[in-house]
Amino acid sequence: MTGNKRYSDILLDHFRNPRNVGEIADADGVGAIGDPGCGDFVKMWIKVKDEHVSDVKFQCRGCPAAIATTSIFTELVQGMHIDRAAEFSEETVEEAAGGLPEEKKHCSNLGPGALYNAIVNYITREVEKSAGKHHDDNEGETQVTA
Ligand code: FES
Repeated sequence: MTGNKRYSDILLDHFRNPRNVGEIADADGVGAIGDPGCGDFVKMWIKVKDEHVSDVKFQCRGCPAAIATTSIFTELVQGMHIDRAAEFSEETVEEAAGGLPEEKKHCSNLGPGALYNAIVNYITREVEKSAGKHHDDNEGETQVTA
């Protein structure tokens, strides 16, 4: 970040116009994560094609930095192989956001955490499918606390 601006232009743009907000009705995986320190929360839906993230949507109840970094994150992981997407670090999100104030660094954890849980949920569904079990769309959503 340059000068004495608290947030970068990239971050402010994603806060004002967050990308990929919403839900995917027929998602292949759903995951959520909450930060117990501040109570902020992200839920994420993914579609997966040939083991790549073909679509991602999110909803966030959180601070401006959580909304903006999660929006940035959803753009970064579009089309990415799920193995790589599951390992995406919050430092990479922070870098793409043009930096974050020290007390806001934890906000960039929510996107990667929610996506990780959505991928776990996707893999669980796939294993159940191959084992012949029926999966209810709202059943077994993966949710943990950071
Ligand atoms: S203050 Fe906790 S996620 Fe932003």
